[in-house]
Amino acid sequence: MSLQTITADERCTVQAISPARRLDSIQELVRHGLSQPPKTLPPILFYDERGSELFEQICQLPEYYLTRTEQQILDCYAADMAQVCDPELVLVELGSGSSTKTRTLLDALFVRGQRPIYRPIDISQAMLQATAEELTVEYPDLQVHAIASDYEHGLEEVGKQKGHQKAFLFLGSNLGNFTRSAAVALLGDIRQAMHPGDLLFLGLDLVKPLPLLLAAYDDRDGVTAAFNKNVLARINRELDADFNLERFRHQVVWNAAEQAIEMHLRSLGDQQVRVRDLELAVTFRDGETIHTESSHKYTQEILETLSGDAGLEIERMWLDENGWFALNLLAPKNNGAMEQ
Ligand code: AVJ
Repeated sequence: MSLQTITADERCTVQAISPARRLDSIQELVRHGLSQPPKTLPPILFYDERGSELFEQICQLPEYYLTRTEQQILDCYAADMAQVCDPELVLVELGSGSSTKTRTLLDALFVRGQRPIYRPIDISQAMLQATAEELTVEYPDLQVHAIASDYEHGLEEVGKQKGHQKAFLFLGSNLGNFTRSAAVALLGDIRQAMHPGDLLFLGLDLVKPLPLLLAAYDDRDGVTAAFNKNVLARINRELDADFNLERFRHQVVWNAAEQAIEMHLRSLGDQQVRVRDLELAVTFRDGETIHTESSHKYTQEILETLSGDAGLEIERMWLDENGWFALNLLAPKNNGAMEQ
């Protein structure tokens, strides 16, 4: 794997997959996604620098209950989470973004005199680097060793290390972007990186009345629409394409069979778009969509199936007062038996 160290002092390092490799994969993802019906673009493409900023804005929206609800759960139970962690531990976070919620857990750990090493993994290098430096200043006793990468390569890197207990953090219902089978595969990758005694804190958005779900992905201010369309703007910027953003509409639908919110970009009229760097011409019929994201929702039953299939078991579930969101503690199956 080609990892590069970008920033290095003794308490803060940032490693990244080489830009050449990442550019290749953007080209492949776009070519693959736009070449066949139904057209799709994977959600990992949302998170360039602009997209990561827009996502931070989404987290503040009144309609987007996910972030503040999970934050409420952390405010209530971070001390309980810290209690199940070892005095010295490696805290690995998948999709760390601005690490805002993580600070609540870090605070709870430091209050108890625990000494975490923080290993955030995020696809947005700019956000990761800024956050890593911020945390090093805010927490004088914290070591931050960040990995700018997709989850797969990041987990591979982290799995090489043995020694301290690892607590994996996978918050914000980030898992929701994965189909049920891909979710089992990813949870299995996390399970592979775990040793007996390691932990996974998994934050999941729960099934709830449809109007609440739809509003969360179609806010009044149009921030989510801008986030969705940014993927087209990014392709224009990075692959010299000519998407006219005014000729696509943000669309949100509920997929009942999958229990997932879907975001699409719907073509307003027949049109042709050129992606010059790929030497690709893409034609759209009026009303045809590009499927850009699925956000799967969960029940306890669904989680039991997924985690069981991945070799994990649920040890605790912490819920908010409305039962909208669940923060779950998972461990390798039979782990408890081995410890006692
Ligand atoms: C970061 C994947 C959890 O699916 O709710 C927010 C992304 N998309 N608004 C989600 C998102 C539209 C978010 N996740």
